[in-house]
Amino acid sequence: MKTRKTIQEFQNQSDSGEKIVMITAYDYTSAKIIENAGIDYILVGDSLGQVILGYDSTVEVSIEDILHHLKAVTRGTEKAHIIADMPFMTFQINPESAISNAGKLLQYGGAQSVKIEGGEHMCPTIKKIVAAGIPVMGHLGLTPQSHNQLGGYHLQAKTLISAEKIIEDALAIEDAGAFSLVLESIPSEVAKIITGKLKIPTIGIGAGPHCNGQIQVFHDLMGLFSDFQPKHAKKYVDLTEIIKNSIELYASDVKTGKFPNTNHSFKAKTELVSKLESKLGLK
Ligand code: KIV
Repeated sequence: MKTRKTIQEFQNQSDSGEKIVMITAYDYTSAKIIENAGIDYILVGDSLGQVILGYDSTVEVSIEDILHHLKAVTRGTEKAHIIADMPFMTFQINPESAISNAGKLLQYGGAQSVKIEGGEHMCPTIKKIVAAGIPVMGHLGLTPQSHNQLGGYHLQAKTLISAEKIIEDALAIEDAGAFSLVLESIPSEVAKIITGKLKIPTIGIGAGPHCNGQIQVFHDLMGLFSDFQPKHAKKYVDLTEIIKNSIELYASDVKTGKFPNTNHSFKAKTELVSKLESKLGLK
């Protein structure tokens, strides 16, 4: 049986002052690497819409898309706590369908918790999902599923009114029973105030160093997504360049006959070859 990290361990780690490190994952192989690198909390984010499926935005992501990738990530991991993003329109319509969709992510996808974008207006839904026994992570600031409403992917909470609103939203989400809160693309100072006010851990992405933890999109960290590089993301390696160079080398080896050589080929017994050749009249 797989024993995965719990939301209680998540809270305890944060309470002890140890930062929480989170990364997104979308497939078996990378999830395995991420877990083996010591990451205990993995998000199967709807960012998979852009970085895996080539959609224009996360608005196009369906629950089937998330389930498909979530299953691969749970198969590739043993100890990590897997948080599944609830896609656009799977939780906004009414709390009943939200509970049912959240349930599918745990029951069929193997997630341990779900993430929901939105502020105070989502609290009745969050309360009901939590009451159904499903842990919920909130998500405030730049909420990509609302990019049409927000007018793009800009820094949020820049004005006094919007900074006060996000603080109110954060407190309401904690009150509704969320176990953690993602803060995306807001000024560090505002994230610091929220982190100071909440008991549950804040997880930042473009929200500065004062959050209780950080999350990043795997493809941004690995230099695997060249369409767009957010300011908050640090490219630790340029895998796009490394992969491209390796593929060019492979193509050149095939064309010049360097690959495959004997190391990558299988040899038949001499007796078999001579019998075959004489039977076929080749010698
Ligand atoms: O979908 C995602 O990857 C996310 C993170 C950016 C927090 O929601």
